[in-house]
Amino acid sequence: MFKIGVLASGGGTNLQAVIDAVKSGVIKGEIVSVLSNNKSAYALERARVNGIEAVNIGRKQFSGISEYSKALASHFLERETDLIVLAGFMVILGEDFIKPFRNKIINIHPSLIPSFCGQGFYGLKVHEAVLKSGVKVTGATVHFVDENADTGPIILQKAVDVKDYDTPEILQKRVMEEAEWKILPEAIRLISQNELVIKDNIVRRKK
Ligand code: GAR
Repeated sequence: MFKIGVLASGGGTNLQAVIDAVKSGVIKGEIVSVLSNNKSAYALERARVNGIEAVNIGRKQFSGISEYSKALASHFLERETDLIVLAGFMVILGEDFIKPFRNKIINIHPSLIPSFCGQGFYGLKVHEAVLKSGVKVTGATVHFVDENADTGPIILQKAVDVKDYDTPEILQKRVMEEAEWKILPEAIRLISQNELVIKDNIVRRKK
């Protein structure tokens, strides 16, 4: 069975989309653990009500990001996790987390990378910046995670219209509904069925 681990810091609507895709059989796999840095993250509650292990490991218990990264890596190594999904995880982890899971960590980002991404672009801040810039199209991206913020190979993207008089909250909701909740489960499905190849930082479907 393909084993999925999830890291989430907040409401967990992307986690819910993955739970639903596993339940409906679209993703043939199992979520082995949901871990949050935030003990009151609703994502943990979503895991519990679905009978999935829910774990809180706070960042502040550790002296530095390296120690925290090592602890999280051990957690998922112990569970023999095949893929780790960052579903709204708001801590940037170090190479001690990335190295043991090279090309086995993916992230959902609420913009069309390489626009509106990198340090400081997360959650509503992304949509605020999009609206401030005046672009008419935004979207979401699922990508593999490397050592830098939002720079790893892109797996899937989906565009979403920006409408006149959008607020950041309204735009965030549209991007989630029309893009994030679709492309995140689809990326997991493609990876779990071994349908992708990565060469020279480019992700392609196998021929
Ligand atoms: C989502 O919009 C996700 O794309 C974003 O945080 C939100 C989490 O919502 N992630 C980032 O900004 C990462 N840089 P959720 O907890 O309801 O899934």
